[in-house]
Amino acid sequence: METLQKRIEEASSLDALEKIRVEIFGKKGLLAAEFAKLKDVPGPEKKAFAEGLNHQKSALQEIFDDTLKVLKSAALEKQLISESIDVSLYGNLREKGALHPVAQTMDKIIDYFVSLNFSVESGPLIEDDFHNFEALNLPKYHPARDMQDTFYFADGGLLRTHTSPTQIRTMLKGKPPIRMIAPGAVFRRDYDLTHTPMFHQVEGLVVEEKGKVSFANLKAILTDFLHHMFGEVEVRFRPSFFPFTEPSAEVDISCIFCKGSGCRVCSHTGWLEVLGSGVVDPNVFKAVGYEDVSGYAFGLGVERFAMLMHEIPDLRSLFEGDIRLLEQFR
Ligand code: PHE
Repeated sequence: METLQKRIEEASSLDALEKIRVEIFGKKGLLAAEFAKLKDVPGPEKKAFAEGLNHQKSALQEIFDDTLKVLKSAALEKQLISESIDVSLYGNLREKGALHPVAQTMDKIIDYFVSLNFSVESGPLIEDDFHNFEALNLPKYHPARDMQDTFYFADGGLLRTHTSPTQIRTMLKGKPPIRMIAPGAVFRRDYDLTHTPMFHQVEGLVVEEKGKVSFANLKAILTDFLHHMFGEVEVRFRPSFFPFTEPSAEVDISCIFCKGSGCRVCSHTGWLEVLGSGVVDPNVFKAVGYEDVSGYAFGLGVERFAMLMHEIPDLRSLFEGDIRLLEQFR
């Protein structure tokens, strides 16, 4: 009896205990063998014999149950330790992505104008003659249409050649005052070092009650904007022509590479052209039915800004998706 008790208590694992259980309590186990002797015990002693055995059996059972409990909780403890997760461990480090340099530049431009309360508008890439040309004071057969080489569809639709049609759409759907920019893709038949058939522009338009804005406001805001984008550069407004603005100006900054002394990037002029702008032509307001208003507008090429800000020599590289170029903008 005592040795059995000891063997149970000393079982080192659940498996070992199970073996002992079968040995003691099993159908062919030690206790069963003892009970089998009952039939040979003489009548008057049977009761005492059986009681004795039952007593031993329940004593052993109790010890067995206790031991089982102890071994089970030890096994659980062991499992919990082996399966625990160290949440403080670093995972596999992931490669970080980044915004495309054109998107980064676009965001920087948008941030500036949003901070001045300009709304951000958008329009369709597939445009019609009216919005892309006609309403912008470029009537059919106007020689200025030659300024832009257009992708036309068979039905007369076209890929917009600039973001200016969004000026028209925004004026038609709203009413003055208007203070908007329109970023987006535009398309022209062009392909060389500094031109791709698709590129991005940001358009700007401000319309106020007549007399409230003038060329002076245009000049002030664009000068401040170019300082935001390029830092301390000189800004110069040069008379130019756009059918939808009068007067018109192209805006130059002093060359950020040679600081104005003349280099290859600025074709030895010391200046870089970065913007088209002007006071909105009355014919444009007429086309959208606006009266007694004045306004100014501007447009810029986002890739050109990105190229200048990041010294990217070939515009086409921006659209080749070469990871080695993109990695430099993380
Ligand atoms: N739409 C002109 C272009 O694509 C830019 C521009 C916009 C000029 C608004 C003046 C005013 O070249």
